[in-house]
Amino acid sequence: MRELLVSLKRRLLHRLLAPLLAEQAEHQRRFIADAAHQLRTPLAGLQSQVEAWAQAARRIVPPGASGSLLVPVEQVDKLRSATRRTTQLANQLLALSRAEARTTSDHPMEPVDLRALAGSVLEAYLDRAVTRHIDLGLAMDEVGPEPPRAWAQEWLLRELLANLVDNAIKYTPEGGTITIGGGLRPSGHAWLSVEDDGPGVPEALLPRLLDRFYRVPGSVGEGTGLGLAIVDEITRVHRGRLLLGPGVGGRGLKVLMEWPGGRDLLAGANP
Ligand SMILES: Nc1ncnc2c1ncn2[C@@H]1O[C@H](COP(=O)(O)OP(=O)(O)OP(=O)(O)O)[C@@H](O)[C@H]1O
Ligand SMILES: [Mg+2]
Repeated sequence: MRELLVSLKRRLLHRLLAPLLAEQAEHQRRFIADAAHQLRTPLAGLQSQVEAWAQAARRIVPPGASGSLLVPVEQVDKLRSATRRTTQLANQLLALSRAEARTTSDHPMEPVDLRALAGSVLEAYLDRAVTRHIDLGLAMDEVGPEPPRAWAQEWLLRELLANLVDNAIKYTPEGGTITIGGGLRPSGHAWLSVEDDGPGVPEALLPRLLDRFYRVPGSVGEGTGLGLAIVDEITRVHRGRLLLGPGVGGRGLKVLMEWPGGRDLLAGANP
């Protein structure tokens, strides 16, 4: 009787889980297909460039002999940008899969000084901002003399801010303003945000920004469309929520992540 019950339970569980597992497998299959498709474009560019050089070299230098090739500067530039795109895509894919693999049980949260974190991300992007005449600044909540500390996985928060600041610098025109914000709410939530006064994103397209590989048509600069998907995954790991909308005065884009990481920190309890 007991064995029959166990076998029934197992079958029921299998039947309940089967559609979920199938959906997950389909999701993964689509992601790998998309990633391969995205990698193919810059790799094809790289390959055709190198092939063209190899053929030109063979025309002027007989096999076995040594010699050199004069290469036009614009072709070197093209090769550099294809290499950069491939590297950027590989880095973003790696960041996404690392964020996906992280769970709070395998990697427990640690107390993170939000002000120090935001300051170090700002420092890392300051040169790029200055080059584009962008005013990149911090606006952290000041509550008491202690820096705001929150439970989080620091490496992931750094990745989140880096992606948001990278976007803000890339999509905000010269002379713009970008603000990194953060702090703790009385509700026990911690928050981090990045806000710019650039062109922003039409409201109807906001929900699509978190889709993997999605870029708003006509976006300036190069990108893989994975940055905000990474930010979304990091928010999920922190059991938080992500809000996207216009910045102050209805201009630009503001991305805000809040999570229950400010709770009970002083009492020493891990949420
Ligand atoms: N601050 C911003 N202002 C305006 N548009 C933005 C901003 N941030 C993101 N976007 C739009 O959202 C799209 C998705 O951003 P996401 O960071 O996911 O990808 P990406 O920047 O194109 O590529 P990458 O993977 O290199 O970050 C961008 O292509 C851009 O169209
Ligand atoms: Mg991006």
